[in-house]
Amino acid sequence: MKPLIGVFVNSRFLANPKGALFASKLMQANEIAGCSVCFFSPEDIDWNRRRINATVFCFPEGRQVRRQLPFPDIIYDRGAAFPKERQREVEAIRRRFKIVEKIRFVNSSKLEKWPVIEKLRQVREVRPYLPATLLCRHVNDIRMMLQRFGFIFIKNSAGSGGTDVLSVKRQGNRYHLFFFRKGAHHRRVFSSINELLSELAGMLDLKNEKYVVQQGIRLVKYRGRPLDLRVLLNKNKYGRWVAVYNQARVAPTGAVITNLALGGEVMDYAAIVPDLKERYPRIPEDKKIREVCIVIAAAIEKMFGPFGEIGMDMAVDERGKIWLLEANSKPSKLPEDFIEDTRGVSPQFLMVLEYAAALHRQRTLAPGANKY
Ligand SMILES: Nc1ncnc2c1ncn2[C@@H]1O[C@H](COP(=O)(O)OP(=O)(O)O)[C@@H](O)[C@H]1O
Ligand SMILES: [Mg+2]
Repeated sequence: MKPLIGVFVNSRFLANPKGALFASKLMQANEIAGCSVCFFSPEDIDWNRRRINATVFCFPEGRQVRRQLPFPDIIYDRGAAFPKERQREVEAIRRRFKIVEKIRFVNSSKLEKWPVIEKLRQVREVRPYLPATLLCRHVNDIRMMLQRFGFIFIKNSAGSGGTDVLSVKRQGNRYHLFFFRKGAHHRRVFSSINELLSELAGMLDLKNEKYVVQQGIRLVKYRGRPLDLRVLLNKNKYGRWVAVYNQARVAPTGAVITNLALGGEVMDYAAIVPDLKERYPRIPEDKKIREVCIVIAAAIEKMFGPFGEIGMDMAVDERGKIWLLEANSKPSKLPEDFIEDTRGVSPQFLMVLEYAAALHRQRTLAPGANKY
């Protein structure tokens, strides 16, 4: 029997062009993987009849068909961007599927910045890759980190896409604040730390939102623009981690954050290493970074439970040291023009299906086993 894989998404997912493209790439890969795949959202669940009112996405025509289906064998959790007021309900849905229905998830938990850093500190092998980070409870935490490092990042622990990230750099007795608001990258200069902190206290909702303050990494630059890396990790059908790609993301001119959604540019890291080496002789090879990411992925699983894919934001500083900036449990994974094959089957879509099918097979063959 083909396993039924239910992709859990928010209800707007398939109406969005990127969501539809995601569905199309997944179904294209499924021509090889041979699973039954459907999409569903919280509204589609009928707990009484234990059925879902799912959407089946037909490849290649892109037609969407609604179908009544049983609960999936495996849930591939891509549910993100739910409005704040629905998040508790969505968490309860996940718990019910896991605990009551005993359905296995690919990517069970959310990876927020603070818990990831805090937990990973307990794992000796990954400690050298963690920038100094603290949970911000008061503006004085920002003051202290700035005095210590002279360059810091302040980030919403649950944020994504670079939209709630600020950075401060001390230069002489001036403080440069960088942030992104209303479609543009901004920079403001303050002549005292108190002036800066009172501005930040007004900008950040420190009481209700969780922010982390993190040591700023002095990123290597490619042609004058800072870059960091996005390493996409997927488990293969044997349950082993594979670093599918290591892409450099280069910040727009004048910006300190590299998120593609905010104008960053993507390149293959291995292809620019020779160029970077001229200026930074100790820059690590592509292979080394991938190996470090796999060590970190194993540590994340040890602390948070099993995952099928993780998108890691890594940085390399001017001395060639590798750092983990954050880990994403719902990474964007659409193939990028020019550096990936956008037409053929993408390994990151095929692997997740093969892994999900392996999880299912393992459960049917050896119930209770938890090797993956
Ligand atoms: N500690 C840091 N040092 C240097 N750059 C950073 C640091 N933290 C974040 N950045 C920059 O800001 C970007 C967004 O931060 P990130 O932690 O990935 O948050 P988000 O969840 O919004 O993507 C990173 O990709 C990187 O370019
Ligand atoms: Mg990021």
